This record gives sequence, C-alpha cells and structure tokens, in this order.
Amino acid sequence: MTGRPPAPSEPARPRTRAGASSLKDGGTIEPVREILWGSSAGVRKYETAEEVPSDMRQLVVKLLVVQADTEFASIQQHRPWLDRAPTLEDRWIESRIIADEARHGLQACRILRDFGEEGQRFIDELLAKKEGEHKLDAFNMKFDAWSDVGAFTCFVDRVGVYQLRAFQECSYGPLARAMPLMLSEEQLHLNFGASVLRRMVQDGSKYYGSKEEAQASIQKWYPRALDMFGHSNSDTSRRAIEYGLKRWTNEEARARYIEEVSGLVQSIGLTLPAPEFDRHVL
Ligand SMILES: [Fe+2]
Ligand SMILES: [Fe+2]
Repeated sequence: MTGRPPAPSEPARPRTRAGASSLKDGGTIEPVREILWGSSAGVRKYETAEEVPSDMRQLVVKLLVVQADTEFASIQQHRPWLDRAPTLEDRWIESRIIADEARHGLQACRILRDFGEEGQRFIDELLAKKEGEHKLDAFNMKFDAWSDVGAFTCFVDRVGVYQLRAFQECSYGPLARAMPLMLSEEQLHLNFGASVLRRMVQDGSKYYGSKEEAQASIQKWYPRALDMFGHSNSDTSRRAIEYGLKRWTNEEARARYIEEVSGLVQSIGLTLPAPEFDRHVL
C-alpha cells in the first residue's frame, strides 16, 4: 500500500493545476490515471474489461454483482412505502431514493456489460431476483414500520457509502468514475434516515410513531449493517486491496463506521447496541 488512504469521512480532493487550487478558482482537474495503492501502485489504471488480468477480473465482477444486487433489492424494500410514508415530503423523498437506487443498479450493470457474456448472464440473474433471494441479509428483510425506513437508510445505506468510498479512485477506471455521482446521491439517503429517526424521537406521534419504535428499528438494522462489512479475516477483502480495488479491510471500515454512528445516534437521543449484539458475520 502507498501511504494511508484518507478516512471515509474525508472527501477525496481533486488535484488541480499549479496556480489554481480548484475548478472554482479557474483550475483544471487532472484525472488520476495511475493505480494508487496495492501491488500495482504507480502503473496505469485498467480502463477496459479486456485488459483486466483474469484473477482480478473475477473479483471485479463479484464486487459489481454484490453492489448491483443491493441496489435492486432496496427498491423492492422501499416500494411499499411510496404511498404510505407519513408526509407528502417523505413520499417524495421515497420516490427519489427508489429512482437513485435504480440508477445505481443501472450504472453497475453497464459496467458489468463490458465483461461480455459473463457480465450479461449476471445481469439477467440480478433482474430475476425476488424479495428474499438477495445475497446479504439486510436486503432480505422487510420494512415493517416507518421507523425501519429511517433506520435502514441511516445505517444500511451508510455502509453502502463506506463501500463506495473504498472504491474511490480504484484501479479499475470505469468503476472509479462511477463513484462521485453515486456518493452524492447516497448522501441524501443517509441524511433522510437520520432525519426520520430524529423526528420520531423529538416529535413522537405529532410526526409519526415513537421513540420506542425508532429504538426497536435500530436493534433490528444495526447488527445487519455491521454484518455487511463482511468477515474480519476475509481473503476477498485482502485481495481487493492488493489489486487496488478497495482501500480498507473489512475490519478497518467497520471500526470507522461504528465510531461515526456512535456519535450520530447519541445526538439523536437513541442508543446503539454493542457491536457484538445479534451478529451473524464476524
Ligand atoms: Fe444506491
Ligand atoms: Fe441508497
């Protein structure tokens, strides 16, 4: 690895030409063309599916399939709340989130398409998946209450953001270039989730539900969110770093996430269960 990557909460800074510090100041952004970490650091990034070495190719496809699966699954989970969310604004944001997740799924599938027949086979499988058939547990659970929508977007989408940040400026160019827009859209989802929980705590039934419901949904989703980072000694995560695809091990990312949400949940007036509570993937 070449140096320590920035923490997930620090946005990546585009590099600019000498004399101007940003696009706003008249500078131009220099695209990052070389692999920034891993065993091929310093070499030009892979720009097409054809030039990706075969062992790395398998991993890129696997990561894309998992990513796309979560996007399509969450559309199925949100759908029942499109016309059941408590306020008109909440319904509008639900529709935005569904549209965003559909776009993310499309974007991941477009990259998969570059992998020819193999990629297309995975896309066909992804589009045929029904509720309950997805890879990760968090995406096979229903939103039984409005507080579930709040906790899911606050906790599960936030893990998604950590995963996307781990791909920022990664060694596969098409994947790296997909990140900025996805990340900016995901930010809406996270903020919305925290705001739903906060309103339930502060306004209670004047808004919708109660503080107790919000807390119950945290107990339901937080363990599944922590599981999403994967096994602590995962060989896939080690290889992903070596190939310059991901910046952090599962355990590093999970630890940073726990630190971030601890402060957030406390500020809302709710509590987090212990990180070991109800976990399936350790
Ligand atoms: Fe998404
Ligand atoms: Fe999202």
